[in-house]
Amino acid sequence: MKKRIVTLGVLASGNGSNLQAIIDRIEARALDARIAVVISDNPRAFALERAARHGIPVVKVPSGSHPSREAADAAMIQVLNEYGVELVVLAGFMRLLSETFLRTFPMRVINIHPALLPAFPGVHSQRQAANYGVKFSGCTVHFVDQGVDTGPIIVQSVIPVEEADTEATLGARILEQEHRIFPQAIQWYAEGRLRVEGRKVFLGAGRTCGRVALHQPALESGPGDFGKEE
Ligand code: GRF
Repeated sequence: MKKRIVTLGVLASGNGSNLQAIIDRIEARALDARIAVVISDNPRAFALERAARHGIPVVKVPSGSHPSREAADAAMIQVLNEYGVELVVLAGFMRLLSETFLRTFPMRVINIHPALLPAFPGVHSQRQAANYGVKFSGCTVHFVDQGVDTGPIIVQSVIPVEEADTEATLGARILEQEHRIFPQAIQWYAEGRLRVEGRKVFLGAGRTCGRVALHQPALESGPGDFGKEE
C-alpha cells in the first residue's frame, strides 16, 4: 500500500533541536512526512539555519512586525496554506496562537512541552519541576487548544528526577526524550491512528507499558513491600 506523506509546517522560535529530530527521522525514512516550510517569529532563530541546511523554505514573521497578534497569525496562515500544510508542528514556538489560527487548523496543531502536563504548563517548566521537588518529570506531545498547554495529550515520556538535578541537567535529559516522542506522535498522525474524543486521544491498538510502576527513589525491600520475595 502506498504510504501517505503528511505535509508539515513547523513553527520554531529558538534552537530547533526538535525540528532537527524531525528532519533526521524524515531523512532516515522513519517518518512519513515532509516539512514544506519552517516559520519563525524570531529572525535569529537557529532553527531557520537548520531548515536552510536541509533545503527547507523558511519564512520570518517577526513579532512586532505586524500591528496585532491576529495580523501576524493571518500572515502565518497564508504561508501555511500556500505551502499546502496539513499539520502545524510547534517545535519550541514561544508565542500563543490566536483563536482564528486554531480554528483554521482544528486538531491539526501539535506542541511539545517539557513537563508532564498538566503539571508545570507555560514557560520554565524544567526549572519549575527541578525546584518543586517532584520525583518524576518528562515531556508531553499534545494537540493545541485555546488554553496554555491544555490540549488533548497524545504521548508522554517520564524520567526520574535525580537529587543532584538542576534545571540544566534535567532539561537536557527531558530534551532527549522530546526528540523521541515528537517524531513518533507525528508518525501516528500520518498513519491516521489518532482519534480524539473530548480530552482523550486514542491510539487504538498501540503498545502499552501495561502494569509497570516506577518508584523514585527506588523502593528498598522490607516487610510489606511489593518486591519482597516470600
Ligand atoms: C523544548 O524544550 C520544547 O519542549 C519547548 O521549547 C524547547 C525548544 O527546544 N517547547 P528546541 O528549539 O526544539 O531545541
